[in-house]
Amino acid sequence: MTYLVTGVAGFIGMATAKALLARGERVVGIDNLNDYYEVALKRERLAELTPFGTAFEFIEADIADTTAVNALFAAHGIRRVIHLAAQAGVRYSLENPHAYVQSNVVGHLNILEAVRHSDTVEHSVYASSSSVYGANEEQPFSEADRVDQPVSLYAATKRADELMSRSYAHLYNLSLVGLRFFTVYGPSGRPDMAPWLFTSAILKGEPIKVFNHGEMRRDFTYIDDIVAGVIAAADMNPLPGEGAERHRVYNIGNNKPERLMDFIAAIEGAAGRKAEKIMLPMQPGDVHETYANIDRISADLGFAPTTSLAEGIPQFVDWFKRRHRLT
Ligand SMILES: NC(=O)c1ccc[n+]([C@@H]2O[C@H](COP(=O)([O-])OP(=O)(O)OC[C@H]3O[C@@H](n4cnc5c(N)ncnc54)[C@H](O)[C@@H]3O)[C@@H](O)[C@H]2O)c1
Repeated sequence: MTYLVTGVAGFIGMATAKALLARGERVVGIDNLNDYYEVALKRERLAELTPFGTAFEFIEADIADTTAVNALFAAHGIRRVIHLAAQAGVRYSLENPHAYVQSNVVGHLNILEAVRHSDTVEHSVYASSSSVYGANEEQPFSEADRVDQPVSLYAATKRADELMSRSYAHLYNLSLVGLRFFTVYGPSGRPDMAPWLFTSAILKGEPIKVFNHGEMRRDFTYIDDIVAGVIAAADMNPLPGEGAERHRVYNIGNNKPERLMDFIAAIEGAAGRKAEKIMLPMQPGDVHETYANIDRISADLGFAPTTSLAEGIPQFVDWFKRRHRLT
């Protein structure tokens, strides 16, 4: 079966593509290799897919480019779409808002339109985010909660993706699943996220910035657990029913929020060094706590994360040390 993975040079995209290829599937991947963070890391990730030979085909293009997206769908007989390409990151959306609308709104529309006109696509999965819950206080976050109070433009674009997808299911009877990811971490992770920033600073003996004086909790989810959930969602039977019934969103998180200070302690333990902490106030656009209710995805897809922070953090820190030749 042929899968399209958008954002294939990204953290979750590469890991998902690799697992599919290891299982013997064909993967067509698209990524524009933008320089939001180091392009060398994106190329290293792509290099992990080259051993699969012709089963993997990479297309360097922008999903906001309608012609390129349509040509890709026309040429490859894609059956399942895993759409992960996006401008990610909450904080950068304060600096460069246009990048978010271009990739996350225009790009998302291009994927929906291509799926709508495709004769081969049966079912699609796309990335949403826990950030759609905004500053909701009731925990854990559940799919039934209201999600109309985003606190960042990033969150607003991810919620827009969900609403656009719902309208396309309603109008064109498409089978679509949105996954609300909760802080994903692990080897080959993102340089703009806390696990990387803290590990890098601690190993180099530099201070780390601890926002909201450490009073934050995150439902950190390990990459292997995420990949299992993404692939289970992509492999679902096309959703039954009519119209908007064929669009569903699922939380995909660890269901175990960790205190920021415990998370830092886990990195210190794995790195064998203590962090010098600069305590700072809350950042605009940030939220105090994320905690996923995963009843829905567990019931429908058998999603059951197994990796604790105590297991996952050393995996990430060891990978980081190897990549940066640090001891
Ligand atoms: N990692 C997390 O904790 C997390 C949490 C919530 C949601 N998400 C969502 O999951 C998805 C994957 O996240 P990730 O952590 O792998 O991010 P990532 O930045 O590592 O991967 C995204 C990839 O998409 C590519 N891309 C961006 N804009 C593009 C465009 N216009 N055209 C083509 N390619 C483009 C980038 O070059 C990058 O390689 C994203 O949609 C993100 O918003 C991630």
